[in-house]
Amino acid sequence: MLNPRRALIAAAFILTVFFLISRSHNSESASTSEPKDAEAEALSAANAQQRAAPPPPPQKPMIDMSGMSTYDKLAYAYEYDIESKFPAYIWQTWRKTPSEGDFEFREQEASWSIEHPGFIHEVITDSVADTLLQLLYGSIPEVLEAYHALPLPVLKADLFRYLILYARGGIYSDIDTYAIRSALEWIPPQIPKETVGLVIGIEADPDRPDWADWYSRRIQFCQWTIQSKPGHPVLRDIISRITNQTLEMKKSGKLSAFQGNRVVDLTGPAVWTDTIMDYFNDERYFDMENSKGRIDYRNFTGMETSKRVGDVVVLPITSFSPGVGQMGAKDYDDPMAFVKHDFEGTWKPESERHIGEIVQELGEGQGEAPKEQ
Ligand SMILES: *[C@@H]1O[C@H](CO)[C@@H](O)[C@H](O)[C@H]1NC(C)=O
Ligand SMILES: *[C@@H]1O[C@H](CO)[C@@H](O)[C@H](O)[C@H]1NC(C)=O
Repeated sequence: MLNPRRALIAAAFILTVFFLISRSHNSESASTSEPKDAEAEALSAANAQQRAAPPPPPQKPMIDMSGMSTYDKLAYAYEYDIESKFPAYIWQTWRKTPSEGDFEFREQEASWSIEHPGFIHEVITDSVADTLLQLLYGSIPEVLEAYHALPLPVLKADLFRYLILYARGGIYSDIDTYAIRSALEWIPPQIPKETVGLVIGIEADPDRPDWADWYSRRIQFCQWTIQSKPGHPVLRDIISRITNQTLEMKKSGKLSAFQGNRVVDLTGPAVWTDTIMDYFNDERYFDMENSKGRIDYRNFTGMETSKRVGDVVVLPITSFSPGVGQMGAKDYDDPMAFVKHDFEGTWKPESERHIGEIVQELGEGQGEAPKEQ
């Protein structure tokens, strides 16, 4: 069993090696097949790097990125290759690692390892996240500036999941989730995996007149569990949006007065849902000429099986929210139930549900004062 210090060193080593390799071989690192464990991975990565050393690999020319938009810098740093495999990573974040005695989510964390033998499973603490992001986003300083400027731990936790999936791909899932089935079963067999780059689930489908009292959007996509390939355009867009918004608020001095109930809009499910809906209607990615009208909540309400839109697979509410007993969600034993999320009563305004729960838990242990740089 790794102790926290060794785990940190190992993680930093693996990521450094990956970082170096991915600088020259973007698509190659994205198609990493399923590694056995972190050590073997580090080893094979180190070997791969040695092999690559004598004839220098074709490198991207260093370019002056100062005039580029954040979106373009992100696109340059991490290419999207739809035909690559989904990387065999599971990313989670918490203030402690599972090797610490009083780790609170042992059962939940174990369920992910048990369902995903051969995957690299990392529980990232705050300080590891800082190091990691420095490595992955050093060439895009405004992204790091925005991350450090975010005034609440829950905001950073939200942005971190988009950043790690954008750079490395794999699965992100909140630490309080249980894996019910392997992610290898999430995409239905009739959909070829080389045509899919993002897998998302429905969080809420409140078909009642007062839905706006409870949720920000009529259909809401959940961001407690996401699977993606590196470089996906939806992640590129949400990272750009959050970076822009955060730095605008920082400039105008509004960050210090930021209220917890606005988390859903700045980094949470509202902006996540809007970004995805905009992607579905974006003519840069979809042929709008042949489309039969705007894609909106009506295309997803009441769905019971998964649905593909472009390179995105949308799973029904049962997949990531089974057993909630409402909005058409079926029970844990349903074949479409993939992930279980522990939250107290769901019919509660979302600002009280997710935010209350996460901010309190993360807030007390991390005790990190908001940084304004
Ligand atoms: C945010 O985006 C707007 C519109 O593209 C742009 O004018 C502004 O400069 C951006 N702000 C920052 C801080 O990047
Ligand atoms: C979305 O729904 C509209 C009707 O609301 C329909 O015309 C369109 O074909 C649907 N698109 C997809 C991709 O399902």
